[in-house]
Amino acid sequence: MDLEIKSSPHLGYWIKNNLDYAMKIKNICCIGAGYVGGPTMAVIALKCPDIKVTVVDKDSFKIERWNGEYQNLPVYEPGLADIIKKTRGKNLFFSSEIDKSIDDAEMIFMAVNTPTKTEGKGAGMAADLRHVENCAKNIARVAKNDKIIVEKSTLPVRTAEKIKEILSNYKSDVNFEIISNPEFLAEGTAIKDLFKSDRVLIGGEKTDSGEKAVEALEKIYKRWIPNEKIIKMNVWSAELSKLASNAMLAQRISSINSLSAICEKTGADIDELSNAIGLDHRIGSKFLKASVGFGGSCFKKDILNLVYLCKYYGLNEVAEYWHQVIKINEYQKSRFANRIIDELGGNVKNKKIAILGWAFKKNTNDSRESASIKIADKLIESGGHINIYDPMVKESKIKEDLNNIWGSKSKSEKDLSSRFLRVEIFDNYKDAIKETHALAIITEWDEFKEINFQLVNQITNNNPKIFDGRLILEESNYRIGK
Ligand SMILES: NC(=O)c1ccc[n+]([C@@H]2O[C@H](COP(=O)([O-])OP(=O)(O)OC[C@H]3O[C@@H](n4cnc5c(N)ncnc54)[C@H](O)[C@@H]3O)[C@@H](O)[C@H]2O)c1
Repeated sequence: MDLEIKSSPHLGYWIKNNLDYAMKIKNICCIGAGYVGGPTMAVIALKCPDIKVTVVDKDSFKIERWNGEYQNLPVYEPGLADIIKKTRGKNLFFSSEIDKSIDDAEMIFMAVNTPTKTEGKGAGMAADLRHVENCAKNIARVAKNDKIIVEKSTLPVRTAEKIKEILSNYKSDVNFEIISNPEFLAEGTAIKDLFKSDRVLIGGEKTDSGEKAVEALEKIYKRWIPNEKIIKMNVWSAELSKLASNAMLAQRISSINSLSAICEKTGADIDELSNAIGLDHRIGSKFLKASVGFGGSCFKKDILNLVYLCKYYGLNEVAEYWHQVIKINEYQKSRFANRIIDELGGNVKNKKIAILGWAFKKNTNDSRESASIKIADKLIESGGHINIYDPMVKESKIKEDLNNIWGSKSKSEKDLSSRFLRVEIFDNYKDAIKETHALAIITEWDEFKEINFQLVNQITNNNPKIFDGRLILEESNYRIGK
């Protein structure tokens, strides 16, 4: 091995550049301590004990929770607390000292939220890049030496260019290299996904300094990701790959959900259909489970972003094609809520329905865009009462979600409080289903799998109807696609 290296004519160049990187990246700063920043940095800290990783956030309460009790971290993910136990205070730090951490770091990850714009040009579709722009300004303001900036947030194509523009407008004496490294983790399996990523994309500029920056990040991932899974590409391909991957995943869900509606009309069975379709190796079996519809912070906003991009470039047919994925998802959520109302005699006034599950999927405490929110809203709008239970989402978060949706709709404070008077939140599902007319499984938490007619009859007085929105029960009165 030694001999091989010594005989290389590029030895001097190789050693200089590679050792430069190895020496340079001693401090990483990640801006954004959310569902992406927290878990990804925890894994980097675990795999690179020689690198100091500092995760910063403008939300000091969140930072306090990251530094607090392991069972009360702001993000729940199986396996995450164990990694935090091993790394926190050693080479992983959570801090509100944003400027200092930026200044200390050679490599800065941006993992801030990029929600859909709510006002201005592109409202309701385009990504709101306010937080990304603020990060860039912050970096430009405090950076005293060259930095590698890694886009971890999901961003529209050509955002790297915009970041570079902001940085160079504010500071001309420091070199900033922007690389795109979109995150593909799925909440609920984030740690598993980060340990064994299907692929890691690194997009950089084809310049000397761009290639060096890509290499520096590659070296970090190489500690645990096999070479062949680290894919280097141009920045825009990396940015678009993330939007496209989420759009394709969501498209499969909307495709199978649209077929579930046909199954219900024709007597076909969606599980049998999914199995038959998935056995075709060209299609594969993943992401073919019918449900109440997808949620989470990413699918909807990333597709809307893609739709906006298509419209911007005049690709109206392409825009409409992807927009339909979201329309079917909204339809599926309404269809499920309407079915509950229909099965309860077309009227839920003064009837009580238990909503089991508030998180958008199991094994996370994230409720962003959860189907439960829309279904709860529809039932309350129709005069019903709801009991809510989720094992991981806190009561305060459930109330916040409802307040967000009802705040703008309510005609007065009285109207808002009358809605809340018809909501009760429980800390176990057995109490939540007592004295109800129906119970609806919205999140596929494992503990709900034991629910059946006999158990429900033992617990309740009313023999409530069971609605299975996740196809996890052996028996129910209504199952999606049956
Ligand atoms: N959640 C996921 O499963 C997932 C997966 C892949 C990619 N992504 C993408 O990653 C990005 C982050 O997503 P998330 O779910 O972690 O968001 P999040 O809302 O959980 O976390 C973002 C954090 O950034 C902080 N922040 C915003 N602006 C800041 C600033 N200027 N300075 C300091 N802190 C700031 C916020 O306070 C917040 O805590 C988004 O672009 C998202 O699309 C998310």
